[in-house]
Amino acid sequence: MMRTQITFVLNGTVQRVAGISPTTTLLQWLRRSRRLTGSKEGCAEGDCGACTVVVGTLAQDGVHYEAINACIQFLPMLEGKSVTTVEGVASADGALHPCQQALVECHGSQCGFCTPGFVMSLYALYLEQAAAPDDIDSVLAGNLCRCTGYGPIVAAARRMYELPRPTGEGERRTCESELLKSLAHEESIEIAGDGRRMLLPATEDELAQAYLANPNATLIAGATDVGLWVTKQDRPLPLTIHLGRVRDFALTRESGEALQIGAGVTHAMAASVFNARAPTLAELWRRFAGLQVRNAGTVGGNIANGSPIGDLAPALIALGARVHLRRGDERRGLALENFFVGSGKQDRRPGEFVVRLDVPEMSLTDLQIYKVSKRFDDDISAVCGAFVIAVDGGKVVRARIAFGGMAATPKRARAVEVALIGRPWTRATIDGALPAFATDFAPISDARASADYRMQVAQNLLVRAFVERTATETVTRLAGHAALAIGAR
Ligand SMILES: Cc1cc2nc3c(=O)[nH]c(=O)nc-3n(C[C@H](O)[C@H](O)[C@H](O)COP(=O)(O)OP(=O)(O)OC[C@H]3O[C@@H](n4cnc5c(N)ncnc54)[C@H](O)[C@@H]3O)c2cc1C
Ligand code: FES
Ligand code: FES
Repeated sequence: MMRTQITFVLNGTVQRVAGISPTTTLLQWLRRSRRLTGSKEGCAEGDCGACTVVVGTLAQDGVHYEAINACIQFLPMLEGKSVTTVEGVASADGALHPCQQALVECHGSQCGFCTPGFVMSLYALYLEQAAAPDDIDSVLAGNLCRCTGYGPIVAAARRMYELPRPTGEGERRTCESELLKSLAHEESIEIAGDGRRMLLPATEDELAQAYLANPNATLIAGATDVGLWVTKQDRPLPLTIHLGRVRDFALTRESGEALQIGAGVTHAMAASVFNARAPTLAELWRRFAGLQVRNAGTVGGNIANGSPIGDLAPALIALGARVHLRRGDERRGLALENFFVGSGKQDRRPGEFVVRLDVPEMSLTDLQIYKVSKRFDDDISAVCGAFVIAVDGGKVVRARIAFGGMAATPKRARAVEVALIGRPWTRATIDGALPAFATDFAPISDARASADYRMQVAQNLLVRAFVERTATETVTRLAGHAALAIGAR
């Protein structure tokens, strides 16, 4: 059975929408069709957070709430979910929610344009966490405020937990959960309007068939890249296939010695799986975009977009990950480093899609990864370097080193690896390996960094990886405002 309408819950009320252009963004629809103008458009590219709404997804233990950017979510992607906008946060009797009351009390708003977005990020935090996290900055990094200053807003994030819980909170949650259960179904969907179509297959087999039959279709996972093609480049995207309903695509599994990460696993989900296993990967994800983008964007999308500055590829290449692909009924797997074949080109045939990534667990604790960007938070890398170096008996026995931002693709530093393997793990060996960078890379200059800067930074990151492992008490990392001393291993 194929449905031709999408159904979701908006501020507690069921919505059924058909015959709409499938690349209409949630923000456009809220503001134009529903006249819910509390959510603002600041940038229309996922950077400022003024459009933040809270999306609820039915899980086994109830509804799971996340903040996302409405400006780069296409409306059909909301199928089966709940959406709360800033208009739906206060109680029915008009009483402010603690997150709103706290912003009032802490003077957390001046001009107010950004305020609805902050309210929604705080609301999602309040729904999901019973106490203020230590690192509130990371929750708010995807919300820009240019005039109030973050001090009062961060104070409000703590204050909201001291205020009385809202009345009817539990009932509201239960009610939403029941509503979402009543809407759940396993049918595929096709939305057509304004000369455009979006297919939303429900299974991997249906996806494989649909993409094989329509290899020119644009695949959409979290739309944190594709959304900008529409809002910033005005690309028409006549036929799209959304992966968000494919069962099992958003699962992680442990299989023997590898962690299998489904292509539809979001960065937020993946971070929760990897954080305890690989501390430096956790730090990378902490600095990957803002939370709204991490809640929507997927691991598969970050690999499949073929970006030379995507953050995950260097880390996963250094770890020896394999990418698994499917085209119709054919399946194959290849080393991730061989997937990137040229500028914007991957080893992917028409109609072929990424199913999952297998990440060996063995090297996770040895991974050292460094992201160098102009801003600490919510910025794309100028250079990202990942190192897995094994030392035994004082000698380097294994080295896998990969960089983003140094070539047209994410790339292994093979000459540097050769210059290290078999040699003593000493500063002299590191210094001796530095000239090999020129064999591996000829970086370009662009708005993010000059070629010279990139080369120097990449070399320095190898030195830093060495210092971090050999010098005790050396402060080599900053996480939020806290400087962490990483001791010798
Ligand atoms: C504000 C902002 C900040 C960002 N910061 C960062 C950052 O710090 N680091 C970083 O690396 N990236 C960053 N990004 C880029 C982006 O968020 C990531 O690349 C994200 O992982 C893309 O995933 P997605 O699911 O949103 O992909 P989509 O936008 O849905 O798709 C991206 C591409 O992959 C293709 N695709 C998606 N899934 C598959 C699949 N399973 N098989 C084949 N093709 C597929 C799509 O057709 C498209 O070409 C940022 C983006 C924004 C808007
Ligand atoms: S409008 Fe700026 S993130 Fe959506
Ligand atoms: S209150 Fe003005 S930008 Fe935040």
